[in-house]
Amino acid sequence: MPEKRPFERLPADVSPINYSLCLKPDLLDFTFEGKLEAAAQVRQATNQIVMNCADIDIITASYAPEGDEEIHATGFNYQNEDEKVTLSFPSTLQTGTGTLKIDFVGELNDKMKGFYRSKYTTPSGEVRYAAVTQFENVIDRKPYPDDENVVEVKFARTPVMSTYLVAFVVGEYDFVETRSKDGVCVRVYTPVGKAEQGKFALEVAAKTLPFYKDYFNVPYPLPKIDLIAIADFAAGAMENWGLVTYRETALLIDPKNSCSSSRQWVALVVGHELAHQWFGNLVTMEWWTHLWLNEGFASWIEYLCVDHCFPEYDIWTQFVSADYTRAQELDALDNSHPIEVSVGHPAEVDEIFDAISYSKGASVIRMLHDYIGDKDFKKGMNMYLTKFQQKNAATEDLWESLENASGKPIAAVMNTWTKQMGFPLIYVEAEQVEDDRLLRLSQRKFCASGPYVGEDCPQWMVPITISTSEDPNHAKLKILMDKPEMNVVLKNVKPDQWVKLNLGTVGFYRTQYSSAMLESLLPGIRDLSLPPVDRLGLQNDLFSLARAGIISTVEVLKVMEAFVNEPNYTVWSDLSCNLGILSTLLSHTDFYEEIQEFVKDVFSPIGERLGWDPKPGEGHLDALLRGLVLGKLGKAGHKATLEEARRRFKDHVEGKQILSADLRSPVYLTVLKHGDGTTLDIMLKLHKQADMQEEKNRIERVLGATLSPELIQKVLTFALSEEVRPQDTVSVIGGVAGGSKHGRKAAWKFIKDNWEELYNRYQGGFLISRLIKLSVEGFAVDKMAGEVKAFFESHPAPSAERTIQQCCENILLNAAWLKRDAESIHQYLLQRKASPPTA
Ligand code: BES
Ligand code: ZN
Repeated sequence: MPEKRPFERLPADVSPINYSLCLKPDLLDFTFEGKLEAAAQVRQATNQIVMNCADIDIITASYAPEGDEEIHATGFNYQNEDEKVTLSFPSTLQTGTGTLKIDFVGELNDKMKGFYRSKYTTPSGEVRYAAVTQFENVIDRKPYPDDENVVEVKFARTPVMSTYLVAFVVGEYDFVETRSKDGVCVRVYTPVGKAEQGKFALEVAAKTLPFYKDYFNVPYPLPKIDLIAIADFAAGAMENWGLVTYRETALLIDPKNSCSSSRQWVALVVGHELAHQWFGNLVTMEWWTHLWLNEGFASWIEYLCVDHCFPEYDIWTQFVSADYTRAQELDALDNSHPIEVSVGHPAEVDEIFDAISYSKGASVIRMLHDYIGDKDFKKGMNMYLTKFQQKNAATEDLWESLENASGKPIAAVMNTWTKQMGFPLIYVEAEQVEDDRLLRLSQRKFCASGPYVGEDCPQWMVPITISTSEDPNHAKLKILMDKPEMNVVLKNVKPDQWVKLNLGTVGFYRTQYSSAMLESLLPGIRDLSLPPVDRLGLQNDLFSLARAGIISTVEVLKVMEAFVNEPNYTVWSDLSCNLGILSTLLSHTDFYEEIQEFVKDVFSPIGERLGWDPKPGEGHLDALLRGLVLGKLGKAGHKATLEEARRRFKDHVEGKQILSADLRSPVYLTVLKHGDGTTLDIMLKLHKQADMQEEKNRIERVLGATLSPELIQKVLTFALSEEVRPQDTVSVIGGVAGGSKHGRKAAWKFIKDNWEELYNRYQGGFLISRLIKLSVEGFAVDKMAGEVKAFFESHPAPSAERTIQQCCENILLNAAWLKRDAESIHQYLLQRKASPPTA
């Protein structure tokens, strides 16, 4: 990593007590005027006040000691790089309290940061603007106020809080309202005319507040909460205290036009942001090093909350595929980072809103919750929130509360997971000793390029659970592995029983079984006697072992074929994701078609079982599974699926039979991938006509499936057009890169050619990291790693530095994987074609 930029936190000699802020936005000129009156305390005599400040101009500033004359600041020294300003006073400000007054002006920018403008269209088609805020991680600055035609709205005083959690929105909205069981007034604000679409989120929020109140045993600290959908919004949502802002697609649900996965997404996001009202807002991290605590915790408990509201989603299994495996993929890289990472300059803050803080953070909390047990965990949470309310806290503080509540060595265990990067690979072999099974376990850091070599291998304290075929859903034994090697005796295990580690795929490690142990587990996949989340974990471990060169990829293909009877959506979804990675890899070879044949063979039995139309009694997960399977088959060119998709698409476009929301993505994808310029034009027309942002996004994400070079170019140009909201450009370009071999090259060239515009659009920021990741990760030739590295050396993107290194590492890993296994995969696929396996 390059040298860290020097950065100092604000001095503590003057601290704010209460801000009173008056703002006057002008939605025609895109400017605002502000007046700040802050009660402040001078703790140490000084003639300077240093504050955070970005993109605003101070007109006047003064400080008046209590009962004394104002002293006017004579100099404003902006340190723009560090987002700070130093006010200089002609005389010393003595210790004591006083009033700081600042008049300032600023611009309502279009960068989705600070106080900005968001563009929207009214029901009659008029373009208008709203003024919106996004202050995290903007370390707290920007705006902080006379005309007869102006309406003044006053807000009540808040509890003591961090300034990054302040929000205000000025614009036209409708809303729906309810009162939660515990008496909080809940509103969901929607675009004008779309109040109905706020009902789903309203219901979720009203159920969630009492759930958290009960879980934390701390009431929601404000009398009201508003949730609002913002047209132009960089993140998914932001937990501002009492006014949570969301992308439209993370809040609005239309009963007819929203698909099941959107409903689930809205529930998760609402659950996440409302959790922050306690964990993050009532108690705030002491510094960005502890950001993970905020995000990891919220990313864990959002699942607990959704599981409470919608048990039929089987959401915890989905956690494993969405967060746990994603975190392990990233954390196996040499360019990963510890969960707790020292953060200095603001640019480094953007960098850590990544899968380590979110998904690994959530995964280790899930492991910890399992290790402690729900009762003591809740007790500890309450101790922590009560002790630190309206204050700041650090990671150690949470460990201490949980340690007190549980009597277990929490800090010792957790430090091994949060202070060092990576996670272990547990190797296990077994021996039958009379009536017992002796297990020999050893741990070694798992790296994406194989097991860690060399001395000083990091060690973890690993909570391990062991189950057997006698009772696959319960742990026969729980141990804490606190050394490199350990022997364990399982009493009374018959020779024909299988033994499995990591029940529920809760421990944050991968497992490598001896061949004999693995052999004994595989029938449990076929006959479904292994629980779903264990089938998923086993398959995922094997896949990553293959990618790391520890086992052969052909072995994994054989295991995938054992999933013929698989009914579980999430198990399929994870398998599908891995097959997608393999397909992308093999798109670099001349036997891409053969792997498509394999995909079709694996997915057609389940496709036939499901059919196209929902059967009576089906639910949420069946809808998700059907969409997944048909999309996979359609994309791979499965003939019957392709024909039916075309037929239904035609009826949809002609208005004869509108496609159900759950079938749209797979159908759009299928017809585009196997379609021509006319199909693309129809899709672009559907995009233009769509009234819901969800539908626009659905279309944007599949456009990259188109195959011909001219059409790909058309999609890329569209990505930067006015038709696509600024935050969504990323997924259009990313879709092109992931859509085909030619798309990958074209997307990369497009990014290079339009770098300045893209960089400027996101002002650095985390969206630029996401764009880079989606666009270059799929390369599999060594020299591309060099090319990517060289490009960013001459076009620096400070907040994406680590992402770029991770991408280069992934490119090299792909190349090595291809060299190692391509030939044997090809041979296996050919031989399979010659003598197809019998199901
Ligand atoms: N605090 C974040 C929003 C945020 C993200 C601010 C990045 C600044 C930079 C919020 O709580 C969050 O985590 N939002 C997620 C959605 C969530 C459901 C995972 C997001 O925006 O992706
Ligand atoms: Zn969050």
